[in-house]
Amino acid sequence: MTAPHAAAPLSAEPSRALTGEIRVPGDKSISHRALILGAMAVGETVISGLLEGEDVLRTGAAMAALGADVKRDADGAWHVHGVGVGGFAEPDQVLDFGNSGTGVRLAMGAVATTPIACTFTGDASLCRRPMGRVLDPLARFGSVSIGRAGGKLPLTLAGAKDPMPVTYASPVASAQVKSAILLGGLNAPGETTVIEREATRDHTENMLKAFGASLRVEETAEGHAVTVGGHAELKAVPVAVPADPSSAAFPLAAGLLVPDSAVTVTGILMNPTRTGLYQTLKEMGADLTSSVPRDAGGEAVADLTARFSALKGIEVPPERAPSMIDEYPILAVIAAFAEGRTVMRGLKELRVKESDRIAAMARGLLACGVKVEELEDGLIVEGMGPGGMPGGGAISTEMDHRIAMSFLVAGLAAKKAVRVDDSAFIATSFPGFTDLMTRLGGRLTRPNR
Ligand code: S3P
Repeated sequence: MTAPHAAAPLSAEPSRALTGEIRVPGDKSISHRALILGAMAVGETVISGLLEGEDVLRTGAAMAALGADVKRDADGAWHVHGVGVGGFAEPDQVLDFGNSGTGVRLAMGAVATTPIACTFTGDASLCRRPMGRVLDPLARFGSVSIGRAGGKLPLTLAGAKDPMPVTYASPVASAQVKSAILLGGLNAPGETTVIEREATRDHTENMLKAFGASLRVEETAEGHAVTVGGHAELKAVPVAVPADPSSAAFPLAAGLLVPDSAVTVTGILMNPTRTGLYQTLKEMGADLTSSVPRDAGGEAVADLTARFSALKGIEVPPERAPSMIDEYPILAVIAAFAEGRTVMRGLKELRVKESDRIAAMARGLLACGVKVEELEDGLIVEGMGPGGMPGGGAISTEMDHRIAMSFLVAGLAAKKAVRVDDSAFIATSFPGFTDLMTRLGGRLTRPNR
């Protein structure tokens, strides 16, 4: 298991207006996929704007351990020389994915139809998370796994020698599950199909098409069906990674919540499978404007500006959850500064993220003086209006980057400072968060222990 680190507490103090224009790091989902598809392609994939966060760096290291050549050049571009579909070599060490569910689950799919054995592990948070959701469908290819009870890490997966194609109706709305199966299908014969009831983020599909795979998307009676052609040959193409909308959510939220603020984040990925939060904020009355819509490397991007706003609580449609699944922690904070009640439901998946995010948000908001009701599948937050959150809470991060960043944003806008016990996990997805927020005018300080 990944060794524990020294905790890095951080406090966010009530701040004056946040202003300025920033760019946040590259999208985490696209970054993982660029490294994995680059490793499975023939030729050299050059990736610009890769998120150099710990989660993604571990995926890069895993691809290197599987035989790909993965290097960063002096200008910050990443070069991946792939081994071709089915070309992975058996790694001689355990593959350690740290905190990253995306990295480990997609990598399991990528190796499931190649006859090699790999042992996967991660940190204490990742070792608590369910892997059966990918191991069960991958077993249909003929792969075999042995791990801890409930399919938990560490575990060893032996890829199928003579894989079968798979058709799988996924019981969970999960892009990781869908992607793992599609990646496995690349080295199986025939066609592999994943059917999801609600469409989840489609970056794997978009990138597979760009790399030359045969891919079909159909709306069927059973749901949204994605089919990939087997015995595929992927050809390296350049990948430009847009800014991560899930990271942009934090400075933009601070712009909405701290009086007199105006924060612009440039080059944000605007793929509709990822922008549910922005739609929700508009419904809450946010002064959030989009400018310079453009195309970057096949994905829509835009600049977004958030200005201090009087927000109102709303009922968030549960069917919107897949398009904003990682944004509920910051939405729960934003809801606490709205007038009236915000109801968020359909969020069972949040219980198996880096932490149980429903429980972590409910505990943290209570510690900051906010009335909140924890539901099995969601949260109801009683908003206290602009500047109304008392704050003053001491927050347990639970090894979860988004819990840490959400409560730090809360502290910038609350009446009293909010302290998180460990900010180190922020580096998994948003390296430079503290510097960027400080540059905008946020007061983040390292408390004396
Ligand atoms: C991701 C999918 C989502 C999301 C995660 C990234 C991806 O997880 O929460 O941060 O890149 O495919 P699920 O697939 O578990 O919903």
